[in-house]
Amino acid sequence: MNILGIETSCDETAAAVVKDGKEVLSSIVASQADLFAKHGGVIPEIASRKHLEMLTPVINEALEKAGLNPNDIDGVAYTKEPGLLPALLVGISHAKALALSLGVPAIPINHLEAHVYANSLTSSADKKEGIPYPHICLLVSGGHTSILFVESPTKYKTLGQTRDDAAGEAFDKVARLLGLPYPGGPIIDKMAQDGDPASIKFPRPMMDTEDYDFSFSGLKTAVLHEVKRRVEISDELSDELKDQLDYNWKADIAASFQEAVADVLIYKTMNAAIEKNVDTISLAGGVAANSRLREKMIRAANDLGIDVRYPDLKMCMDNAAMVAGLGYHMIKELKN
Ligand code: KG4
Ligand code: ZN
Repeated sequence: MNILGIETSCDETAAAVVKDGKEVLSSIVASQADLFAKHGGVIPEIASRKHLEMLTPVINEALEKAGLNPNDIDGVAYTKEPGLLPALLVGISHAKALALSLGVPAIPINHLEAHVYANSLTSSADKKEGIPYPHICLLVSGGHTSILFVESPTKYKTLGQTRDDAAGEAFDKVARLLGLPYPGGPIIDKMAQDGDPASIKFPRPMMDTEDYDFSFSGLKTAVLHEVKRRVEISDELSDELKDQLDYNWKADIAASFQEAVADVLIYKTMNAAIEKNVDTISLAGGVAANSRLREKMIRAANDLGIDVRYPDLKMCMDNAAMVAGLGYHMIKELKN
């Protein structure tokens, strides 16, 4: 069964074809990130207009790369929610019209469930087939941060979530404080490699609570104070020294901030895995691409004999293969 996936919830126009819920025949993503780099975030109306312009060519490319005609498609899965409404509407209306014209089902998909499902695609970076159920999933994207108890591709319970900023949002805001472009996560990840993660003791918010909730806004404020302090020192330096030192202290802040976020995410995820007695943890969403988070999570989990699964870098970010893959299971459930 070939499912065409369509994803337009934020600033990526994406289409993909996935066979039998697993095999990614094509996955095309047209990112608008460059448009928003200097704004520090996505402007929904601009994103929506760009989706309108890009969606048809992206779908055509996905079909062509999969070597299929529209008539070979057995269903059109599309991201219904959550996301930016003007952006979502472009994908929703296009998917429904296309499904109607092809005489196949249109399948609404929850974007977060699709991120979790990315671990079941065969292109996953860990090269392991399928994922055991139940497992604990740490879902960390630009809009959401949650710990989920996942019982099947279509069934999960939320054990905890952020009370304010999402982890990805915190990365984006801290990048802005450091004068870095949007999206901040990949740049902080890279810059952190030049910094010392132990140089600044940023708070680890909510590490002392027994629930699975998070809060990142206090950490962001701590970074703001540190940035202000460094800027004052830096203003007193000569120009030659300033550039080099500015990079060094920014790298230290990036590394120390990233370490604090990773520590909290790992601590809570491990506690959930222990309490629920599962032997698998999965990572999902854009922040799951973070190299330090992956490395530390694998180390912590392996010490306890727990396996960590994570999607290929491209499949962590918004894409339509995860939407199409989950769509296959939705259709199967409807038929049963
Ligand atoms: O899942 P995603 O592509 O979109 C949403 O559904 O939100 O996640 C985007 C988020 C952005 O906040 C971005 O800064 C963050 O994922 N991100 C990262 C990394 N790559 C992307 N955060 C930390 N480290 C990364 N390597
Ligand atoms: Zn997403």
